[in-house]
Amino acid sequence: MKNVLVLGGTGFVGAHVCEKLIRAGLRVTVPTRRAVNARNILHLPALTVLECDVHDEASLTQAMQGIDAVVNLVAILHGSPAAFDRVHRALPEKIARACAAQGVRQLVHISALGTDHQQPQACVSNYLRSKGEGEAALMRILGWPQDKAPANANANATDALAATPHTGLTVLRPSVIFGAQDQFLNVFAKLQKWFPVMPLAGADAKFQPVWVEDVAQAVVQSVVAGLSGAPRWQVFELVGTKVYRLRELVQLAARLSGLGGGHGRPVIGLPRWMGKVQAAMLGLMPGKPLMSADNLDSMQVDNVATSQYPGLQAFGITPTALAAIAPLYLVRDPAEKGLLGIRHRPH
Ligand SMILES: NC(=O)c1ccc[n+]([C@@H]2O[C@H](COP(=O)([O-])OP(=O)(O)OC[C@H]3O[C@@H](n4cnc5c(N)ncnc54)[C@H](OP(=O)(O)O)[C@@H]3O)[C@@H](O)[C@H]2O)c1
Repeated sequence: MKNVLVLGGTGFVGAHVCEKLIRAGLRVTVPTRRAVNARNILHLPALTVLECDVHDEASLTQAMQGIDAVVNLVAILHGSPAAFDRVHRALPEKIARACAAQGVRQLVHISALGTDHQQPQACVSNYLRSKGEGEAALMRILGWPQDKAPANANANATDALAATPHTGLTVLRPSVIFGAQDQFLNVFAKLQKWFPVMPLAGADAKFQPVWVEDVAQAVVQSVVAGLSGAPRWQVFELVGTKVYRLRELVQLAARLSGLGGGHGRPVIGLPRWMGKVQAAMLGLMPGKPLMSADNLDSMQVDNVATSQYPGLQAFGITPTALAAIAPLYLVRDPAEKGLLGIRHRPH
């Protein structure tokens, strides 16, 4: 049985990835900052939870002993430039060095659509910039074969490196991810319960939302492919079937939640400066910030496939439509949908 270390395996995407890896016959270890954070995956068989500081390179390298493949899903959405740098650039650097030291065959790194490993400084937000720097660091340390053309790296690199033991690298760049536990449609539905009218920053920003199960399937296939044959070197863009403007997604979340008598709420697009004020105020609310100025900066560029890189279809996955899934969990009264609704209700 092959061993996979899933960093960030306790998160929204991570739980789906762990379940699918185990179904694929792999043994999974999940490091976490606090064991209690892993309660949503503890029931899975063939899964070990390891309390560990992944930022400590010695602990990280030790956690990779006997590991065949690593998946990195660790990320933050809000924070200072230093926090983004620590999690999105410095941590991948440590992961790459640890993978190389322990002879890990394949690293699957989840990045984000809209980033650019070649010119990270040109990215519009701290989130995207640090994601690009993280990709670039991984490629540099692991010896990405054709630095200038990662989309085509696979075929040639596979031949070139077949003879040498090496850690391969798969970079997956998803658009915004939807699913029963998402912090996206669920958050917009929740916000609109409080406000009869929805003032919205970045209302015309475009997204191509992708289902969490499709993303998890692509991760698992990347792991399995990397463990069979020569290491892989690829970048993929993971997107769904349809491009939506943010205002459409917000309206959809309200409609499907039965708000406004099932008609949703009026959405009022805010000019950028007012959006900044709104984001700053939401960032000050207690608990996890709902929105930050940096999120708003990210929305300056459309979050849709560039077609520079292959997508889900390259894995043989047909993207699942948001319209088919969101109604299953965005329900006004979960009892209306019977047991399925109760299982999928937002928390
Ligand atoms: N969700 C989306 O819409 C979306 C869109 C595009 C890209 N992505 C990417 O997909 C990946 C997974 O996203 P997700 O939504 O599943 O994230 P998530 O639910 O926030 O989970 C991230 C995990 O990272 C760990 N983590 C967070 N901050 C950390 C820190 N400072 N140090 C160490 N570990 C930390 C946490 O594990 P512990 O608490 O157990 O330590 C957590 O389970 C990320 O790379 C994200 O950027 C997500």
